[in-house]
Amino acid sequence: MLRSAVLALSATAIAAGLAFTPAPANAQSDPIAERKAVFQMYLRNVRAINAAVQANGDMRALAANVREMQAGPDRVAPLFPAGTGQGQTTVTTRALPVIWTENAGFVSANNGLKPALATLLTAAESGDIAQVRTALGGVDAACSACHTTYRAR
Ligand code: HEC
Repeated sequence: MLRSAVLALSATAIAAGLAFTPAPANAQSDPIAERKAVFQMYLRNVRAINAAVQANGDMRALAANVREMQAGPDRVAPLFPAGTGQGQTTVTTRALPVIWTENAGFVSANNGLKPALATLLTAAESGDIAQVRTALGGVDAACSACHTTYRAR
C-alpha cells in the first residue's frame, strides 16, 4: 500500500513535470501519428485490464496500466492542431472536422476520461474485481462518448 502510494506520487510528479516543460520545436512533427500512438496505448491497456478481469487476475497489478493511460489526455490535447483533420492532409486520419468547429465539446470529452481513469485506478488498487469491471465500463463509455461524435467510423 505504501509502495503504491509512493509510486502514485512520483507518477503524478513526472506527469506534472512533463506538462509544464516546453516541448522541443520538433516534438509534434507528426501529430497524427503521435495521437494514434496514444490511442493505441489506450487500447492495449484496456485490453490488458479486460483480459485480467476475465481471467480473475491480480487487480492491483493493473494500477500500472491505468497510470500509463492517465498520461494520455494531456498528451492527446496538443496533438490535434488545426489542419490535421480528415481530408485536410494526405495522411489517413479519422479525426472529424467537428473537433475544430465544436472544440469545447472535444476538449471536454478528452478531459472526461480523467475522472473515469481515476475511478479505475482506485478500483484496481482496491483489488476488487467487481469494482474494476464497473470502472472499466466507465472508461469505455468515456472512449465511446468521444468516438461517437469526433471520430469517423
Ligand atoms: C477526446 C476524444 C477521444 C477519447 C476520449 C478517446 N478517443 Fe480514441 N480516437 C479519437 C479520435 C479523434 C481518433 C482518430 C485519430 C486519427 O485518426 O487521427 C481516435 C482513434 C482511436 C483509435 C485508432 C488509432 C489508430 O491507430 O488509428 C483507437 C484504437 C482508439 N481511439 C481507442 C480509444 C480508447 C480505448 C479510448 C479510451 C480509453 C479512446 N480512444 C478515447 C478520439 C478519442
